[in-house]
Amino acid sequence: MINLLKSLSEIMRGRAIGGPTVYLRQPHRRDWRSWVALRSRSHAFLKPWEPTWPKDALTRKAFLRRLRAHALQSHSDAGYAFFVFRRNDDALLGGITVSNVRRGIAQSCSVGYWIGEPYARRGYMTEALASLLPFIFENLRLHRIEAAVLPENAASRALLKKVGFREEGYARQFLRINGEWQDHVLFGMLAGDPRPVVHTVIEGGRELRPAVAPSGAFAVSSVAAPSQNTVGGRNSSTA
Ligand SMILES: CC(C)(COP(=O)(O)OP(=O)(O)OC[C@H]1O[C@@H](n2cnc3c(N)ncnc32)[C@H](O)[C@@H]1OP(=O)(O)O)[C@@H](O)C(=O)NCCC(=O)NCCS
Repeated sequence: MINLLKSLSEIMRGRAIGGPTVYLRQPHRRDWRSWVALRSRSHAFLKPWEPTWPKDALTRKAFLRRLRAHALQSHSDAGYAFFVFRRNDDALLGGITVSNVRRGIAQSCSVGYWIGEPYARRGYMTEALASLLPFIFENLRLHRIEAAVLPENAASRALLKKVGFREEGYARQFLRINGEWQDHVLFGMLAGDPRPVVHTVIEGGRELRPAVAPSGAFAVSSVAAPSQNTVGGRNSSTA
């Protein structure tokens, strides 16, 4: 248990999670300016898929409030927040939140994610979410991940399928998104399900991908080909 907590806190502090093109780490206070810049220029792109932004959403005070909430959640093993960065220039690309961690007989969590509009549709979130699976299944030792998507959110549905989630159901008025209670399609992924193979960059001598990949691991075409010397692959040529 002590080893598990130690490895989690190392991961949350460092740049250990990621693939060849992107890495994920805990949000820091110093990220506020780049976060505000990306979120404000992406507002119209994100608005249909997110809860309504409060008036003070982009203020430093609200950002610090978020950081405090993330810290409380990760300390109590209730949730873990990550920002996604591009390796070759450390540009902030988006975020992924692991929330509603349920222990006991469930051992499950939910995931939510967003990418800034200038970086959309370049494979970044596929690589980021695929890279996070070993953290969720092996480090947190969860059994199941859930995600809920608006039926018309083609990008999010394609992303989840590509990363190995399966469509499992439909929930009426499941979440209040963009000011309305909206029906959602429910997706799930189990620890034993086939997973995309993402080349994991080794940092500080730590390789987070499990030594034995689960059976049925599959390649994801849009993730850059494995190479320690190649930073970026197809995704780094633009933006
Ligand atoms: C969903 C989201 C995170 C995807 O991020 P991304 O980095 O653009 O995703 P990727 O480039 O890795 O693409 C993943 C898959 O989605 C597909 N996709 C991406 N944008 C798409 C779009 N606008 N329409 C249809 N498919 C799309 C990609 O083509 C790819 O599938 P494919 O390779 O099989 O064709 C991003 O679109 C986003 O932030 N949307 C707004 C917020 C949101 O919807 N959050 C999730 C709420 S459930």
